[in-house]
Amino acid sequence: MGGVTLENYKWQYDENLQVGTDYNDLEEIAGYDERMSRFRDVEGEIEDILDFLNLDGSATLTDLGCGTGRLVLKAAEICREVSAVDVSKSMLEYVENRSKKAGLININFSNAGFLNHSYREEECAVVSQLALHHLPDFWKMVALRNIFVSLKVGGKFYLRDVVFSIPMEKYKQKIDGFLKWTEESAGEENAANYARHIKQEYSTFDWIMEEMLYRAGFYIEEAQYSDSMIAVYKCVKPRSMDF
Ligand SMILES: C[S@@+](CC[C@H](N)C(=O)[O-])C[C@H]1O[C@@H](n2cnc3c(N)ncnc32)[C@H](O)[C@@H]1O
Repeated sequence: MGGVTLENYKWQYDENLQVGTDYNDLEEIAGYDERMSRFRDVEGEIEDILDFLNLDGSATLTDLGCGTGRLVLKAAEICREVSAVDVSKSMLEYVENRSKKAGLININFSNAGFLNHSYREEECAVVSQLALHHLPDFWKMVALRNIFVSLKVGGKFYLRDVVFSIPMEKYKQKIDGFLKWTEESAGEENAANYARHIKQEYSTFDWIMEEMLYRAGFYIEEAQYSDSMIAVYKCVKPRSMDF
């Protein structure tokens, strides 16, 4: 699935383009978990994900844009097999080192992206956190279809991303207010990263994201929005008779 062939190389989106933050930068990787901990409760997020996915020892899971792999390592303790997918080779090497230290041997590593990863067929669960916004909307839709097709019926997709649920008549105040709050609570570097995100990366609106998920075929069991910026979608691949 996906993959660059002779037919599509002229128009296929290049996922290796680093838009916004450079996740191949070793300094960025080394400081990533600490930086996230200043404004995210990552342990709480993992608990919420695992609670929704309800995995057991026969399950398989794919984490797209896995970053430093905190979910991957936790899920590998539960599942039969976990795929760690990231366009950043350095991020994947970091996760591989961590998995070796933890003695986990059921993780496979794919240095690929949403569009060219070789997805497992009849996948039980897919997770993607804070990564889909790296693609423009057309390519987000291609990515969502890839995920949908790979899942088995009843399979689950958990998506967390920066998604705008901003009232447009107040967008300047909302963004300025959010950046000020981020600077005060999580430091200058995190605020600068958010500013760069808004300026250069491809986050979209809540209504577009919901529509894309529906059009990809998903049933959205729950959509949560916080701070007008962060969204969580808990999705299921329904049987056709569930529509
Ligand atoms: C903000 S980090 C999120 C990491 C992790 N999921 C988390 O929740 O902390 C974004 C990650 O997505 C990866 N990424 C960027 N574009 C991608 C793409 N097209 N496909 C897969 N991963 C991508 C980056 O290399 C980076 O590791």
